[in-house]
Amino acid sequence: MNRRKFTKDVSKLVSTGIVLSSGQFMAACDNDDGVAPEGTLSLQIEEEAELVVGENFAIKWVSSGIEKVDLAYKIDQAANYLTFQREVDANTGQFDFTVPNNINGTTLTFRISNSVTGDVLAEGSPINLIFKWLISLSETEALNNVGGFVKITEVNNPFIVRKTGADSFIALSLVCTHQGCVIGVEDNGSFRCPCHGSTFTDAGAVTQGPAERPLDNFRIEQPDADNLVIYYF
Ligand code: FES
Repeated sequence: MNRRKFTKDVSKLVSTGIVLSSGQFMAACDNDDGVAPEGTLSLQIEEEAELVVGENFAIKWVSSGIEKVDLAYKIDQAANYLTFQREVDANTGQFDFTVPNNINGTTLTFRISNSVTGDVLAEGSPINLIFKWLISLSETEALNNVGGFVKITEVNNPFIVRKTGADSFIALSLVCTHQGCVIGVEDNGSFRCPCHGSTFTDAGAVTQGPAERPLDNFRIEQPDADNLVIYYF
């Protein structure tokens, strides 16, 4: 299965960590004797990074003068971080993290700490979690004909999958972009929100406000003739 390929262009990398100058580090991490331990670390995470549940994600960093690090994440705005790996050799500059299948949230934020001192060395920005929904076309009669659709409602953010052509499909969020009500499907395939009347075309474009933003359009892959994979969030 193909995943979205991220560029290897270093110019697209952004440092989301806390890059500490020696002065900042001393202020934050003085030892009892007043001597700051040497060492810096910054996370290197691509701007468009996303975390696909069940797949690997390479957590990368650049460090100097650090021996071992502990890795942790928090879900959404959780108060506490969960340490998932201890004493990683900092010189490797990377850890291949598998996003847990049972995770429940919208974002993960990574944090890296010094294994010896416990000091937090870097904390990233929240990264979006992407979930996968599998559809067998041979078992989904509604998707046999152009215009046919199925609603997936047993998820936090319901969505619709519609057959738009002989070999094409579209997956759209059913969550209104105004204030989050679940929208309904009209007979002609367009959408109407029951809360404040926003309407959208069958492709998700706004035709009447107050919504200002189109419906989220989820990525679809077809690994073989029978199966669709929808990457939703
Ligand atoms: S929530 Fe849909 S129009 Fe307001």
